[in-house]
Amino acid sequence: MTRRTLAVVSAGLSQPSSTRLLADQLAAATRDELVRRGSEVELHVVDLREYAHDVVNNMLTGFAPAALREVIDTVTGADGLIAVTPIFSASYNGLFKSFFDVLDSESLVDRPVLIGATGGTARHSLALEHAVRPMFAYLRSVVVPTAVFAAPEDWSDGTADGALRARIRRAAGELADQIERRPPATGPADPFALTTDFLQMLGRGDGEPVN
Ligand SMILES: Cc1cc2nc3c(=O)[nH]c(=O)nc-3n(C[C@H](O)[C@H](O)[C@H](O)COP(=O)(O)O)c2cc1C
Repeated sequence: MTRRTLAVVSAGLSQPSSTRLLADQLAAATRDELVRRGSEVELHVVDLREYAHDVVNNMLTGFAPAALREVIDTVTGADGLIAVTPIFSASYNGLFKSFFDVLDSESLVDRPVLIGATGGTARHSLALEHAVRPMFAYLRSVVVPTAVFAAPEDWSDGTADGALRARIRRAAGELADQIERRPPATGPADPFALTTDFLQMLGRGDGEPVN
């Protein structure tokens, strides 16, 4: 059985948060789909509001405090990412953008990503296409075709209505497809890994012993 890790990032600020609710439903649908196809799935849910101060400190100092470092390693080391933001002023919110700003810009290359958003009006659903998707295009992630937007009328008593449920299932299937095409993730890249061999570092590339 293949073991897969799924990181789920929610940038909702309210408590309870409709963004977190959508993130949880996307995560559950993706996990169910991967399990149905024979994988074992480990979910890591990150509520960014808990790390908001750390994210700002990272932006100001260039260093991630320990708790945020752990979250960054979890997100960059996962097989797949579900990233969900509330729409603020017709775009992602500042916390969502700041979190992805502090990641190494190479750390999500070729990573399968499912994007989602919540908003006060369905008229702003295309913010997923003109703001969130281009951000991940810059990071060279592989964003699945179905982006999931939830407006207030898509919920009844905390449950997704039929149309939203169908979009969630379709997006989860697309994310599972992309994850399955790749070998299992080996965790975050080691920033101190030696990528040059010693002979090259010593100016000798001929394989002869250095005296
Ligand atoms: C500062 C601010 C700006 C907002 N701007 C928009 C907007 O431009 N378009 C929209 O559809 N909703 C907007 N909203 C509504 C939120 O996107 C919506 O309430 C969201 O679902 C809240 O998510 P949460 O419950 O996870 O905090 C805004 C809310 C706030 C607080």
